[in-house]
Amino acid sequence: MKAELLYEGKAKKVYRSSTDSEKLVLAYKNDATAFNGKKKESFPGKGRLNNEISSLIFPYLHNHGIRSHFIKRLNETEQLVLETEIIPLEVVVRNLATGSITKRLGFKEKTPFNPALIELFYKNDELDDPLINDDHALLLTDITLAELREIKVKALEINTVLREFFYTSNLTLVDFKLEFGRLPDGRIVLSDEISPDTCRLWDLETNAKMDKDVFRQGTGDLVTVYEQLLQRLEARV
Ligand code: TMP
Repeated sequence: MKAELLYEGKAKKVYRSSTDSEKLVLAYKNDATAFNGKKKESFPGKGRLNNEISSLIFPYLHNHGIRSHFIKRLNETEQLVLETEIIPLEVVVRNLATGSITKRLGFKEKTPFNPALIELFYKNDELDDPLINDDHALLLTDITLAELREIKVKALEINTVLREFFYTSNLTLVDFKLEFGRLPDGRIVLSDEISPDTCRLWDLETNAKMDKDVFRQGTGDLVTVYEQLLQRLEARV
């Protein structure tokens, strides 16, 4: 099914589909990295789990009016997506303060943000993905002001849909990171992945972390936690 390797990232490989040249195959790897790759470990089973979790979330978003690059899950570790040109922005949506914003700006842990807070980071490994403002984004990428506004509106819509999705699995969606890509016809759609690598999810009652923070902070077994998360999400659908 897959053919030419186009790109290898920290958590996924991207191939051009051998059967349809306008489509890409995303192959989820077992590697986990944190702190811009400074901490790295391989976890057998992680690729399958993130592929399965992401493959539950994108169709749910689609059913709630959110267009994305996702077409279908192909097998244990791969999914078929539309080809997009990734806009090098990480769009982070925060419902509660934790992680980098507590260190950077001194917000007290768990401070609620209502409406949710959006932050933009420039996707650039050499620069360690720095926080940027809208004017930087307009200079550093090919998006227009109208598209940037559209992306932010979309990010908040996605937050509303995902919060409900996770809430019905007894999880608080604390924050998450989105990426958007441009289709050949110029339209911008949600791209990349949505998984416990890219979301912070806390148990609704105990606040136990069910995401990559267990690896970042060395507080739990990543595969066990991702497996539990998948089981919870499967139980709701
Ligand atoms: P942060 O608190 O470290 O800025 O992370 C905010 C959210 O973005 C969190 O849900 C984890 C996610 N994230 C990524 O998906 N990729 C990254 O490279 C980073 C730094 C964060």
